[in-house]
Amino acid sequence: MIFDEYTIKSLIRPVPDFPKPGIVFRDITPLYHSPRAMRMVADSLIQRYVESPVTHIGAIDARGFLLGAVLAYELNKPLVLFRKVGKLPAETLCEAYETEYGEAHLEVHKGALGEGDQVLLLDDLIATGGTFLAAASLIKQMGAEVYEAAAIIDLPDLGGSRKMQDADIPVFTLCAFE
Ligand code: PRP
Ligand code: HPA
Repeated sequence: MIFDEYTIKSLIRPVPDFPKPGIVFRDITPLYHSPRAMRMVADSLIQRYVESPVTHIGAIDARGFLLGAVLAYELNKPLVLFRKVGKLPAETLCEAYETEYGEAHLEVHKGALGEGDQVLLLDDLIATGGTFLAAASLIKQMGAEVYEAAAIIDLPDLGGSRKMQDADIPVFTLCAFE
């Protein structure tokens, strides 16, 4: 299916003043509601990475899990979960980060990745980039590398994608809202 950015963007709903006054929240649930649009998103990501040297899919809690599972299934790669704090049961590595709304922590199981692994990191959206940068730091702590960080939406005005590129993390997004 041919990727149509206009269709994708039309299914991302702006919600003013959520979760705080002054923030226009980009709500992706109408996109998830459209099987055709979700197939477009999944197909374009699969096409981009099918011939790549990616060895693992890294999926970020919670909305990154949805794309992560599809990509891991289609590319037949191991899926590594990056979770909000306190959710993973075994020994973890933990990284603190700042978001638009305050401080948060991301965890991953120790030993989930190792030397030489090339990780495709997935999430739905880049805002400040704090979440992706925290996941990338955990990946590096395990001796692995971020092959690329991919998301459906970039919010370039919040500076996250620029900050990630400045940190030498390759970034790929399917659309942007200025
Ligand atoms: C959102 C979004 C990204 C992150 C982007 O998740 O899904 O993970 O924020 O923001 P950043 O670029 O400023 O880090 P959120 O933390 O709201 O959690 P959720 O997926 O559980 O809703
Ligand atoms: N939409 C969805 N998730 C988000 C946003 C947004 O605008 N900002 C940070 N996380």
